[in-house]
Formats: sequence, structure tokens, C-alpha cells
Amino acid sequence: MKTSRSAVRARLAALCAGLLAAGALLAAQALPAHAADAPLRDLAAAKGKVMGTAVTGSKLTGTYGDIAGAQFSSLTPGNAMKWGSVEPTQGSFDWAEADRIVAFAQAHGQLVRGHTLVWHSQNPGWLTNGSWTPAQLSTLLQNHIGTEVGRYKGKVSVWDVVNEPFNEDGTYRSTLWYDGLGADYIASALTWARAADPAAKLYINDYNVEGVGAKSTALYNLVRSLKDRGVPIDGVGLQAHLILGQVPGTLQQNIQRFADLGVDVAITELDVRMALPADSAKLAQQAADYKAVTAACVAVARCVNLTVWGFTDSDSWVDSTFPGYGAATPYDASYAPKPAYTAIAQALGGGTTTPPTGACTAAYAVTSQWNTGFTGQVTITCSGAALSSWRANWTFGAGQQITQAWNATCTQSGSAVSCANASYNGTVPDGGSVGFGFNGTWSGANPVPAVTLGQAVSAAARTAP
Ligand code: G3I
Repeated sequence: MKTSRSAVRARLAALCAGLLAAGALLAAQALPAHAADAPLRDLAAAKGKVMGTAVTGSKLTGTYGDIAGAQFSSLTPGNAMKWGSVEPTQGSFDWAEADRIVAFAQAHGQLVRGHTLVWHSQNPGWLTNGSWTPAQLSTLLQNHIGTEVGRYKGKVSVWDVVNEPFNEDGTYRSTLWYDGLGADYIASALTWARAADPAAKLYINDYNVEGVGAKSTALYNLVRSLKDRGVPIDGVGLQAHLILGQVPGTLQQNIQRFADLGVDVAITELDVRMALPADSAKLAQQAADYKAVTAACVAVARCVNLTVWGFTDSDSWVDSTFPGYGAATPYDASYAPKPAYTAIAQALGGGTTTPPTGACTAAYAVTSQWNTGFTGQVTITCSGAALSSWRANWTFGAGQQITQAWNATCTQSGSAVSCANASYNGTVPDGGSVGFGFNGTWSGANPVPAVTLGQAVSAAARTAP
């Protein structure tokens, strides 16, 4: 039988590809057993703590919703309950996003931290641009608190009643409220909130009050005097917007002194920002920082809630507020848990249970190769475990460079390659596999790298309680 040259070439290419693939050009590494790890909310509960996150209501679907529902036992609306959000025009209310978050929390057995009733920021224009007598201001504030707390009575169990009342030196911040009503606006707000929902826990929340210092001491003195006066105050919120490597050494001591005053303490807005780009050393330091904060809360019985200010780098206030800084949360922008996630879990006692059987593995193969180029394939296979998203990472050892990828989004920085699932192939069921491919260039040698799978959200962890 006569065979055409092109057919021979095609057969040779196929044979070559088969030999390369079969020729042990495979590397695989088991995914850490994330699939069966307890979610953070369960680990926290075992320590008597609540694990929370700030959320954006419109995002509570898909993977974002899966993680928010599975990992956290408390939600804080990042913006939805602020005065400017709920009453953009005087007397005309928009509760849609706040309601959505409350409904999601109820469906997932989560409590809601209401944030925030009295603040100098994110107030509606009609309020800040108006000119009000003290009596009018007082009535406006009382009505606002009564309306919002009343609406969510029995549904929002904790309120950040007053947010950020202090300057860095511990003096009162000049605000609409302080300037118009004097320092007692704080006592009034707490009293009105108590009247609107006697069962809700009432907090004062501030930033840069994590360690012992002038500002936290002002907060301490305020809480002490409120308690002495019989003003309702149940807790203090330490926001904890931290900078990489700068967890205050006096954090636990500070938490303890508030606890000793007879109030609860919550870490309300934890994030740890770093100069971008992130690298493994920074992520390791960030993990240490998250672990230190979590451990300080775990160490004090009255530290009742640890809340991160957004759980994914795709939903953080940091990047737009501090240009050049970011990567501040425990999950990356593709929802893969970062070392910070593992650090929180470990500080909550995770990782000490018997590892589950089963794993997901990634196998790398060169399926064809020519003088300067090659085609690679990575196959992710799960057995006894499952993934709902994935990220495959490796380091090229001989200057290879990816030029094109399919069925994944790949980025290469120097020799480091990171490929995340496409929108349609994040799920790898138990017993199933998913592959993606790429073309690359090589010169001199084309050694096969070891592929690690970034920890991904497991199907098991997505199940709501
Ligand atoms: O909703 C508008 C949108 O319509 C518009 O297109 C867009 C353009 O800028 O802005 C959107 O509003 C933004 C809003 O977040 C919702 O995303 C505001 O500009 C932005 O300033 C606002 O930032 C919020 C910030 O508070 C305001 O100070 C952050 O999301 C929120 O995470 C942050 O949260 C605060 C806490 O409440 C208190 N502690 C500090 C913390 C961080 O700043």
C-alpha cells in the first residue's frame, strides 16, 4: 500500500508524541488534603470563636458565595448597611443589598455584624451637606438608629454602633457628630441602639487600636467610663488593617485589658497588605501575621469574633486605597487559599487531625517537541477528593517560556508559571480529571518540572451546614 508523505509525517508525529508522553516525562505531586479539612468556621467554633468576613452582597453567588457560606460563621456587610447606602435620599431607603446579605446569612446559619450606624464617612450627601441644629442632628441620628436597628431586630446580632471616633493621639475626631453633639453622641447612640434591639450586642469599632497606645488607651478609658455610667456597651472592635510584618507585639495584652474591663473583643476587619507583587517570602510573612493575630484572639476567651475584611484579593479595599499595595486577604483573586488561609486554620487548631485519604494530583507531560518549541499538557486527577477550582504551579528549570495556553489562564513571571482554571473547568470531581495545554519555547534542554497544585476550594467544603 502506498502511503503519502504527509500521512507518514503525521504518523511519525503521533508516534513521537506518544513516546514522549509514555517515556516517563511525567511529574506529579499530591495536593495537600484540603478537600477534607474542616472549614474555618468549624475550627473557630471548636475554639469558642466566630469566624467572619466582610462581604459584598451582589457577589454572593458562585465560588464567592460558596466560600462565604462554607468557611465563615459571621458576615459583615462591607458597605451595604452604611447610612449612605441605606438612605441615599432623605426618607427614601434602599435595603436591597443589606437584606440580601442578611438572607444569605440566615440561609447559611451565620450571624451578621451590622456595620455601621454612626461614622464620619460614607454618609449621604443630604446629611453631610445639610446645616442642622444640634437638636435636629440628634433627632436624625436617633431616627436612623431606630430605623436600621429596628428593621434588623433579631436578625443582626451585633452592631458596630460607633465607628472610628478617635484621632491617633486619642483625642476625639472632629466629625459631624462630635462637632454638633459633643462626645456624648457616643453614649446617646449606644442607648438608642439598645432601645431598638435590646438583644443586640453593641460595639465601638476603630483602627490602629490593636496594640497598647494612645488611641487604644483612649478607647479603653471611654469604655470604662461608659460602663461606669451604665451606658450599654458590650464590646470593642479592633479593625486590624495591618501592614506586612507589623502585628503589634502588645496585641494579646491589649485584647486582654479590654476583656478585663468586662467587654467582649472582636477583630473586625483583619487584612495584611503588602507591596505588590506578592512573592513566596511575603506570603509566608503574611501567613505568620495572620497566625499571630488569630492566636492572640484564641488566647483570650472574650475575643469572640475574628473577621477578615474581605476573604479574597479580588474583593479588597486595599488595592484602590493604597496604590502598589494589595494581596491582603487569605484567598487570592482566583479563590485559591493562600498560606494565610492555612495559617488561620492552624492557629484555630486545624491541621492536627488525621489527614484524609485521597488526593488530587497534577501530571505534566510534553506531548510534542520540535527544534525550538513544544506542546505541554497538565492533567489534574482526583481520587477520594474533589476540587471546585484549581491552580497549577511549576518552575521551569531551563529557560522555557510559555507562549500560549488553552483551557487555563497561565501567567509566567521569570521561571515561575501559574495556571488557573478557566471559567468552565474548575470542577474536578472525585474520580474525574481535567486537563489543559500550552505551547512553549525551549533551547538546549526541556526538563519536566514538578507541578504543585495550589490548594483549591473543595466540593466538600462548599456544602452549607
Ligand atoms: O458604589 C460606588 C460605585 O457606584 C462607583 O462606581 C464606584 C467608583 O469609585 O464607587 C463605589 O463606591 C465605593 C464603595 O466602596 C463601594 O465599592 C466607594 O468609591 C469606595 O470609597 C468605598 O470604599 C469603602 C470604604 O470603606 C470607604 O471608606 C470600602 O469598600 C470598604 O471596604 C471600606 O470599609 C472601611 C470600614 O467601613 C471601616 N474601617 C475601614 C474600612 C476600610 O476603609
